[in-house]
Amino acid sequence: MEGKLFEIDNEEEMIQFGSLLSQKLNAGDIVLLYGELGAGKTTLVRGVMRGYGWTEPVRSPTFNLFSLYETTPPVLHADFYRIKSTLGLGIEDYLDTHLCLSEWPTAIEPEIELNQAIIVRISHKNSGRNVEVSNIKV
Ligand SMILES: Nc1ncnc2c1ncn2[C@@H]1O[C@H](COP(=O)(O)OP(=O)(O)O)[C@@H](O)[C@H]1O
Ligand SMILES: [Mg+2]
Repeated sequence: MEGKLFEIDNEEEMIQFGSLLSQKLNAGDIVLLYGELGAGKTTLVRGVMRGYGWTEPVRSPTFNLFSLYETTPPVLHADFYRIKSTLGLGIEDYLDTHLCLSEWPTAIEPEIELNQAIIVRISHKNSGRNVEVSNIKV
C-alpha cells in the first residue's frame, strides 16, 4: 500500500513527528519500524513516548528484546535485531493490551496480521530522513 511521505530534517523534528503520531495510535495497534542502523527508529519511538508524557529515557531494547511502559496506552517497545522468530517470547498477550512499536520487525511479521500493521519506513535523505507511513491516516 502506498504510504504518505514526510521529510524530517533533524532529531528534534523527528521527536515532534513521533509525538503527533502518538495521538493516532491506540492499544492493540502494531507499528513496524523499518530502517537501517542509525535511521532514527528509536528517536521516533522516543517522540511517541513523549506524546504519552513519558519523560524517562527510551533506548533500543536490543539485548532484552522488548521493554514495557505503563503509559496510556501502555506500550511494548521491541527490537528484534538479534532474533529470527518471536515465537516463545510470550509477547502475544501484550499485543492485545499494548501499543506495539517494533524496531527490526522482520521476526514478528509471521505472527501478526501484516495487512493491519502500521508500516513506517525510515531512510536517509541528505542530512535528514524520509519517513513513509502506511496504513494509517496521518
Ligand atoms: N530526522 C532526523 N534527521 C537527522 N538525524 C536524525 C533524525 N532522526 C534521528 N536522527 C539521528 O539519527 C541517529 C540514530 O538514531 P536512532 O533513533 O538511534 O536510530 P535507530 O534506532 O534506527 O538505530 C541519532 O543520532 C539521531 O539523533
Ligand atoms: Mg534503535
